Amino acid sequence: MDSTVVVVGSLNADLVFSADRMPAPGETVAGTGFAVHPGGKGANQAVAAARLGASVRLVGSVGDDAHGRLLLASATAAGVDVSSVRTVDGVPTGVAGITVDAEGENSIVIVPGANALLGRDEVAEAAAPPSAAFAGAAAVCLCLEVPQAAVLAAARAGRAAGAAVILNLSPYAGIPAELVACVDVLLVNAQEAGQLLGQDGLGAEPQDWELVRAGVAHLGFGPAIVTLGPRGGVVLGREGIAQIESLRVDAVDTTGAGDGFAGALAARLAAGDGLEDAARYACVAAALATMRHGAQPSYPDADEVRARLPREAGAGDGAAARSSCQ
Ligand code: RIB
Repeated sequence: MDSTVVVVGSLNADLVFSADRMPAPGETVAGTGFAVHPGGKGANQAVAAARLGASVRLVGSVGDDAHGRLLLASATAAGVDVSSVRTVDGVPTGVAGITVDAEGENSIVIVPGANALLGRDEVAEAAAPPSAAFAGAAAVCLCLEVPQAAVLAAARAGRAAGAAVILNLSPYAGIPAELVACVDVLLVNAQEAGQLLGQDGLGAEPQDWELVRAGVAHLGFGPAIVTLGPRGGVVLGREGIAQIESLRVDAVDTTGAGDGFAGALAARLAAGDGLEDAARYACVAAALATMRHGAQPSYPDADEVRARLPREAGAGDGAAARSSCQ
């Protein structure tokens, strides 16, 4: 089985301010540190998957500047094929202003820059020869930090290649039915799940996950995963619901943990795991990522994950669902 993962998404330089606590509106607080890290949800997913051993191609856009070069170097060093990342003149690379507090929690503002220039035509060009970026793809991983026209084109190209299409609905936005129909696995955190279902406080325990599964299915999605940070996650599969425990770790920075989960999930689905086993693995990878600073610098390799993986394997949900996608 081809285990190639294709990621179509954003690349951002993360400008990270550390502080004991988040500033309140109108307040200035003294920080404890500053760093520039390679980030962006798409690039993070790609690097996370590659570090775990998957063969990964990244489709995206950066500007012709130092941030763009930082991002290309980081992805390349992780083994990601960046030949379908365009460098665009006259536009800055995307940036994210991130504040991380003493508990490792973050808040993020992004300015898309070159990410906004990734459209349907650019994805079509990446899909066509000579790049043929989707050829042999087993999983396609998507997020909403690039225009939805690009996301839809990528989902269709993934389907045409026979890949499992994973959509991380982040940052949350409504999406059209034609995109929903192309999604094999929906990935959301509790906040995004609440936004999707029009509910407040989703993820607060106890939660009626059967009701959540019904709500997600009513919107046209098949299998879904809701990540719950330190409480692990829940797989809302076709055949049932599985709660997944997280590792107990001392988190220093949660930035990019969700992207680490997405990349690990894509890597394991591409390798042939069922959804539940892949989610169990991704939970461990994401928890380990919170123990180090930054997004891409924090992702573990396969040996680290294997060493912390619970012994018993999940029953699995089988192959991801397929619905009609045109
Ligand atoms: O999910 C974390 C990522 O969100 C950061 O790397 C930042 O660039 C934003 O895209």
